[in-house]
Amino acid sequence: HMADRVEIFEVGPRDGLQNEKRMIATETKVALVDLLSGAGFRRIECASFVSPKWVPQMADSGDVLDRIARAPGVSYAALTPNMKGLERALAAGADEVAVFGAASEGFSRANINASVDEGLARFVPVCEAAREAGVPVRGYVSCVVECPFDGAVAPKDVARVVAALRDMGCYEVSLGDTIGRGTPEAVDAMLAVVLDEMAANRLAGHFHDTSGRALENVGVAIERGLRVFDAAVGGLGGCPYAPGAAGNVATEAVHDFVTAQGFETGLDAAILAEAGRLARSMRAA
Ligand code: HMG
Ligand code: MG
Repeated sequence: HMADRVEIFEVGPRDGLQNEKRMIATETKVALVDLLSGAGFRRIECASFVSPKWVPQMADSGDVLDRIARAPGVSYAALTPNMKGLERALAAGADEVAVFGAASEGFSRANINASVDEGLARFVPVCEAAREAGVPVRGYVSCVVECPFDGAVAPKDVARVVAALRDMGCYEVSLGDTIGRGTPEAVDAMLAVVLDEMAANRLAGHFHDTSGRALENVGVAIERGLRVFDAAVGGLGGCPYAPGAAGNVATEAVHDFVTAQGFETGLDAAILAEAGRLARSMRAA
């Protein structure tokens, strides 16, 4: 019989690199994506069409999408905070885009200079235009358990944003423990409420490993039926607008963790190890 599958959505070239202060050469980013393209991922987030004044590291996202060698069957994804971002993403040929909201006001303000509801309102025309262009939209919710500015986040606040993203047509919503302070108990309680709004097969877990509990949180989410997890090779990452946020949980670690539980990821561990080395070498010393 075929083993159950867990999909890892690779976010290293975006969530991993966006936090690096030192500017990384476009060709180095392209080399990382090209290596990842052969590892067996179905989706790789490698671009972010946000304001280059806010995140200078991602200013060359169009060039990255232009220069990578696109592997058949791989969807190359990009963040799009507003219509301007969507226009840039479509021009660059992103296969799918993502809008990113938050469950807490403090983080929303710091990250996109808008309230939670203002952000959601901005995403509606982005989703409509993407649908017209035939480009799938993923949704992110940040701070699903804790916010660096507002503290603990209520599960119902997460569920409300998930429902809004669902209603505007997001095919999947990724739940972000942006600062990696979520305990397995808090993640489980959050999921219990969010699952009333969206089925487990349309939700993804996005854990940062600040407190070393990301894998436990993946385990809790698997128990709740989730089968997609965002991760970054080499454990790169953080968020420039989330003080104290450490890297994303490492792709290699999630791969080993779920494989030990009997799941298949379809990923090549040797290529992951090589990509992890390259990713770590890109991190400022
Ligand atoms: P703003 O300053 O309020 O925007 O920023 P604005 O509309 O007033 O525009 C200001 C200037 O930016 C204008 O240029 C615009 O044209 C330009 P000027 O007239 O001054 O020359 N601009 C743009 N340029 C290029 N592309 C665009 C764009 N939009 C405006 N798309 C804005 C609002 C949303 C743009 C800004 O706050 C922003 O870019 N924020 C993004 C911050 C970010 O990237 N954060 C990290 C990603 S989220 C994350 O990591 C969490 C996640 O991993 C999940 C998790 O872990 O929780 C997803
Ligand atoms: Mg993140």
